[in-house]
Amino acid sequence: MKLYQLTKKPMPDYASAKTKRQKQRAAGLHPDYWYPALWSHELAKGEVKEVTFWKQSFALFRGEDGRVRALENRCAHRQLKLSLGVVDGCALTCGYHGWTFGEDGKCSKISHSLFGHKMPNAQVKAFAVEEKYGLIFFCPGDAEKAKLHPIPEIPEWAETSGWGRIPVDFTWPAHHSIIIDNTCDFTHAYLHRNKRPFTYAELKRMTTEGDSVVLEYDTKVGDTPLQRMFISKKTNTNAMTLGYHYPYQWSSTDEKIKHWCFVLPIDERTTRAFFLFYFSPEMLKVPGLPIGVPPKAIGAVMAFAKKVFVEPLLAEDGVAVKAEQEGYEDHWEKPVPDLNPVLYAFMNLTIRKWDEYLADDDAAQATERSEAASAE
Ligand code: FES
Ligand SMILES: [Fe+2]
Repeated sequence: MKLYQLTKKPMPDYASAKTKRQKQRAAGLHPDYWYPALWSHELAKGEVKEVTFWKQSFALFRGEDGRVRALENRCAHRQLKLSLGVVDGCALTCGYHGWTFGEDGKCSKISHSLFGHKMPNAQVKAFAVEEKYGLIFFCPGDAEKAKLHPIPEIPEWAETSGWGRIPVDFTWPAHHSIIIDNTCDFTHAYLHRNKRPFTYAELKRMTTEGDSVVLEYDTKVGDTPLQRMFISKKTNTNAMTLGYHYPYQWSSTDEKIKHWCFVLPIDERTTRAFFLFYFSPEMLKVPGLPIGVPPKAIGAVMAFAKKVFVEPLLAEDGVAVKAEQEGYEDHWEKPVPDLNPVLYAFMNLTIRKWDEYLADDDAAQATERSEAASAE
């Protein structure tokens, strides 16, 4: 018998992709948006770290004043990574010959003799940074354009709100679209058949508007006795609304159980996903008693829920998205007969936004070429 055919050819890139699915799985995310780079606590004062967005390297550093800056990760002298350098006040000094770059990316100081020369006009690109919700966000593209779609407002995340909060992240060996698909496509209830975070899902409505897709499912949320022990009966756990608000994903159960997922697309097969889960004090109850969780105990309940529910649940998704990426790379030519219309709406949005980026990029390169030609 012949072995069934394994596709040995490498998966196609965006330009050579023949089907929408192949395009989706090769598409990047539009850089003129805000993306999570690191948790705030991962970058101390005076520290620099490398962060990769879609195969491009950035040096993020926190100055002595506590503010984070982002620069292109190359020294304008001999192109060493600036992330190998040292934070110097509120600037970054390359580790080799000691050229210092300010937050605007301009070389402001050189540690050695200039040999009678003027200061060279050395410059790297600088990128906008914002810290919110315990995350460092940066815009790897044009920050002026990113102003059109700011980081979502999450008033519930404020410490004073009284909401329970669970921040958690995973670096998964999968394309970002595989992760966004996973978080919104409830046909994968089977994967979680023991943990039962959502069961018997029926898609009631899907609305596509601009760069957002909103889904309403009828489903049973938190469908095990253990989960029920913590959820007040006043919470409607028979429905969930989810959205793909490009390039982010969110959900809401009765406005009381919510989350956002912010992804950092590292390359075609690696994504770091940062999740913020948050829970209204109205939905949390003391197990066995018809009373709410006292504000002082919410932190402990969240720590428990993170270890017992959230991390083990997402670990199941991690296994699945990794396996889906591997399956795609082996069999990318095979058709994928998905039944949930949600997946096609997401596919179209991801492709449309990447096409928009590529068209903008082509136009920007053509302008650069004609400016260079007229300067000659
Ligand atoms: S390579 Fe960076 S200072 Fe020389
Ligand atoms: Fe899942």
